[in-house]
Amino acid sequence: MGKGFYISKTLGIVGIVVGAGAVATIIALSVVYAQEKSKNVSTEDGQTTTVKPPTTTPTPSNEPWDKYRLPDTLQPETYNVFLWPRLQEDEHGMYIFTGNSSVVFRCVKETDLILIHSNKLNLTTFGEHHAKLSAGDGPAPPSIKKTWLQVETQFLVVQLNGKLTAGKTYELFTEFRGELADDLGGFYRSEYYVGQVKKVVATTQMQPTDARKSFPCFDEPAMKAIFNITLIHDHGTVALSNGMDIETVNTTIDGVEVTQTKFAPTEKMSTYLLAFIVSDFASIDAMEDNVLIRIWARREAIAEGQGQYALNVTGPILKFFEKYYNSTYPLSKSDQIALPDFNAGAMENWGLITYRETALLYDPKMSSNGNKERIATIIAHELAHMWFGNLVTLKWWNDLWLNEGFASYVEYLGADHAEPTWGVKDLIVLGDVHRVFAVDALASSHPLSSREDEINKPAQISELFDAISYSKGAAVLRMLSEFLTERVFAQGLSTYLNEFKFKNTVYTDLWDHLQKAVEATGTSLPHRVHDIMNRWVLQMGFPVVTINTSTGLLSQRHFLLDPESVVDRPSEFNYEWYVPIKWMKTGVEQNQTWLLEKTATVNEMKTTGAEWIVANLNVTGYYRVNYDMGNWERLLTQLSSNHQVIPVINRAQLIDDAFNLARATIVDTTLALRTTKYLSNETEYMPWESALDNLDYFFLMFDRSEVYGPMQDYVRKQVEPLFEHFKNITNNWTKVPSGHTDQYNQVNAIRMACSSGVKSCLDLTTGWYKQWMQNPANNPIHPNLRTTVYCSAIAAGGAAEWDFGLKMFLAASIATEADKLRSALACTKQPWLLNR
Ligand SMILES: *[C@@H]1O[C@H](CO)[C@@H](O)[C@H](O)[C@H]1NC(C)=O
Ligand SMILES: *[C@@H]1O[C@H](CO)[C@@H](O)[C@H](O)[C@H]1NC(C)=O
Ligand SMILES: *[C@@H]1O[C@H](CO)[C@@H](O)[C@H](O)[C@H]1NC(C)=O
Ligand SMILES: *[C@@H]1O[C@H](CO)[C@@H](O)[C@H](O)[C@H]1NC(C)=O
Ligand SMILES: *[C@@H]1O[C@H](CO)[C@@H](O)[C@H](O)[C@H]1NC(C)=O
Ligand SMILES: *[C@@H]1O[C@H](CO)[C@@H](O)[C@H](O)[C@H]1NC(C)=O
Ligand SMILES: *[C@@H]1O[C@H](CO)[C@@H](O)[C@H](O)[C@H]1NC(C)=O
Ligand SMILES: *[C@@H]1O[C@H](CO)[C@@H](O)[C@H](O)[C@H]1NC(C)=O
Ligand SMILES: *[C@@H]1O[C@H](CO)[C@@H](O)[C@H](O)[C@H]1NC(C)=O
Ligand SMILES: *[C@@H]1O[C@H](CO)[C@@H](O)[C@H](O)[C@H]1NC(C)=O
Ligand SMILES: *[C@@H]1O[C@H](CO)[C@@H](O)[C@H](O)[C@H]1NC(C)=O
Ligand SMILES: *[C@@H]1O[C@H](CO)[C@@H](O)[C@H](O)[C@H]1NC(C)=O
Ligand SMILES: [Zn+2]
Repeated sequence: MGKGFYISKTLGIVGIVVGAGAVATIIALSVVYAQEKSKNVSTEDGQTTTVKPPTTTPTPSNEPWDKYRLPDTLQPETYNVFLWPRLQEDEHGMYIFTGNSSVVFRCVKETDLILIHSNKLNLTTFGEHHAKLSAGDGPAPPSIKKTWLQVETQFLVVQLNGKLTAGKTYELFTEFRGELADDLGGFYRSEYYVGQVKKVVATTQMQPTDARKSFPCFDEPAMKAIFNITLIHDHGTVALSNGMDIETVNTTIDGVEVTQTKFAPTEKMSTYLLAFIVSDFASIDAMEDNVLIRIWARREAIAEGQGQYALNVTGPILKFFEKYYNSTYPLSKSDQIALPDFNAGAMENWGLITYRETALLYDPKMSSNGNKERIATIIAHELAHMWFGNLVTLKWWNDLWLNEGFASYVEYLGADHAEPTWGVKDLIVLGDVHRVFAVDALASSHPLSSREDEINKPAQISELFDAISYSKGAAVLRMLSEFLTERVFAQGLSTYLNEFKFKNTVYTDLWDHLQKAVEATGTSLPHRVHDIMNRWVLQMGFPVVTINTSTGLLSQRHFLLDPESVVDRPSEFNYEWYVPIKWMKTGVEQNQTWLLEKTATVNEMKTTGAEWIVANLNVTGYYRVNYDMGNWERLLTQLSSNHQVIPVINRAQLIDDAFNLARATIVDTTLALRTTKYLSNETEYMPWESALDNLDYFFLMFDRSEVYGPMQDYVRKQVEPLFEHFKNITNNWTKVPSGHTDQYNQVNAIRMACSSGVKSCLDLTTGWYKQWMQNPANNPIHPNLRTTVYCSAIAAGGAAEWDFGLKMFLAASIATEADKLRSALACTKQPWLLNR
């Protein structure tokens, strides 16, 4: 039968029972959903579930310079680096930098070959060679036989006529010239305008493998060394690097008058954490104990006070981490700088953290509370790396997940310390756990941990910076900290940092220290930390735990969003996990239990009468939960009688789990939709956000089908009370709600009320926007609401509204404001405007 028939029939049903309300719509939606889904499986999650073909490996070569990893023969100790970036174009219209570098290295194993990374640098030749080699503490070195650049593996190869002596040091000198390109990698340039005047900043992004693009170096994280940096720059510009500037002199080089700034030698550190910046930026500063904290940005931004919020929170967050790690901040200063062009959100260069402007600058008149939260959490993330990552560094990139997952977890702790009223720690569930569940539930996911020998090329390293490393890493570390307790977790962390400071580790070193803390504190665990964590780290995905409250039987299985997908990645643990289960029975928290087998019976989970169970309290565990229908029904009853008995995070969980179980065809779509019924009584952000995330998927599925109308009616009915609630608590939209997440939910209320056609909402947003159009110098829309109000007003309006938005976008001098307008321009319903 054709699909038209089904849809008409469904709509017919909806038509008949329309007065009966929500349930009818829910049932109709479920029916159409099933049809749409069977029609086109590939639209199921918008992601392909096909497995990537294995990457072809080039023909193996036995020459050391054809391998991507450095041999274990040499170890750098100190570098002396001079760099001179030119902030004006040369006669060929190119921006360049010049420099020289000498590295003192120790020969660990006798060798007649020096391999040092160098990429896209033009090296000066001395005689016929690209380098000069001299003695360190030992004998005169053998002479150089031949040097060349091995482009594919990014090495400068220096072949010698004799052997270097093990145990002795030598010094290698190079002189070079590179392009200061606008490619956001290595030593690069960032441009911005002050009025009509173009300004150029020379800055760096070394992670993961671009330090070699600014000077020849042993560019692997375990090749830690001390760096003496000197920057040469124009009078009137300021030079920054990882260390404090210790000497600034004016001098003339090659007939050019310049300033030369020398920096204190760094701590022993990895190349990927280096940073060099020349700009004419301004700064504000503060002292926190003996640490100098400075916030740098464009002069205009500093003059407008946009660095003040970052300065306010940095000191408290640094103090928090010193206490959390039980380890003092290892440097004398902490510079943080906002760059107009920056690829990542931020980069944790030791002592000189770089940010996108939107991640560091806050303007009380223009920034929303979401912008503010992003600033607090990103600062906390980067400061957390000062110890975890910078002081103690993973040996190789295959363990990137531990570095990034860790910082992505504790960023919430640091931000919570700076802003204790926000409840920001709860938001990890939406921002990381639910987000990565969507990716990790695909058969094409991958484990957190990769083998060292699987990750060699720069491209393979870059691939690791994904949601699995960051968000799943954060989720499983949070789970670990929760089942150990934060006290035990922090104790293991502290001894780990203390033992390995200025050194490198593999992830099992952390497990060793956490296990020691478990033993020292007499914490009871069903298995060693290693054995529990291996299952989460070495196999991809996560389980769905099913609890049958009529029998007390628990079972687990690998959760796959597409039930038909084929998992062809083997797992030595058969896709079974050691699952910590915190749970409650009818509102009363119970003792934590563990699911250690595929199935187990927990008698306490057998319920009688109206008792219900919610497992995975606060979603501290990295898994989904399903129940027998009886328990689901009792949960739904509880939600519609007194939802507050179920913790707010778990209300969000019930919705998200139900929708995803439905997509996996484990439960009926009807059940998922029914979890949204109680929302007309809900005012909290997390359940609403969770529901809207999932309903957005329905909107995408149905926005061209006949059930779209009834669905809009249903959503309107659910959201109207929320809209009225916010109208009431904001005194007819004249106040900002006091709670941080209430401010977020106010945005949801307006977004959904307007998009589902609540008239008073459209009047409100278009009214505000009109007022602004009449008086562009005075925007009446609160920064929190701008994204949604701009979008709603432009969607409801025509060319005049769109043109005004474009005009304001082009005139915006604040990055966050420009972002909001740009995205709103895409909200118009007019194809010809969209086309523009
Ligand atoms: C490296 O460059 C700096 C600045 O141009 C210069 O002063 C220094 O002499 C150079 N070092 C060597 C060994 O040539
Ligand atoms: C490096 O050398 C190449 C080849 O001579 C040249 O095209 C390029 O412009 C040089 N780069 C710089 C930064 O001078
Ligand atoms: C680095 O600088 C320090 C202090 O200026 C100096 O004592 C040390 O010798 C320098 N190291 C090298 C390799 O030049
Ligand atoms: C270097 O020269 C500039 C411009 O002449 C001057 O403003 C600055 O104070 C001088 N710096 C030093 C360290 O002499
Ligand atoms: C920074 O802190 C000061 C002093 O507590 C306060 O007056 C100011 O409002 C804060 N600024 C921001 C942007 O939070
Ligand atoms: C903090 O570290 C010191 C040694 O560095 C140790 O003596 C002390 O017990 C640690 N404190 C805690 C709470 O772990
Ligand atoms: C939790 O465990 C403790 C100690 O074993 C026990 O005394 C207590 O009754 C248990 N609580 C619940 C709710 O089962
Ligand atoms: C769950 O989270 C809430 C809010 O953060 C907190 O008050 C509560 O103590 C947490 N409950 C458990 C069992 O961790
Ligand atoms: C729960 O157990 C009962 C009794 O064995 C069984 O009939 C029912 O199908 C089970 N439900 C689930 C969801 O496993
Ligand atoms: C809202 O709450 C009231 C009382 O708390 C309850 O009677 C009603 O059924 C709830 N509505 C929904 C849709 O759950
Ligand atoms: C509006 O707020 C007041 C108190 O601020 C409260 O008493 C009243 O019930 C609220 N009305 C609605 C419709 O939420
Ligand atoms: C709320 O504000 C609107 C627009 O300013 C106004 O028309 C309306 O009368 C106000 N309602 C109340 C209850 O104050
Ligand atoms: Zn990070």
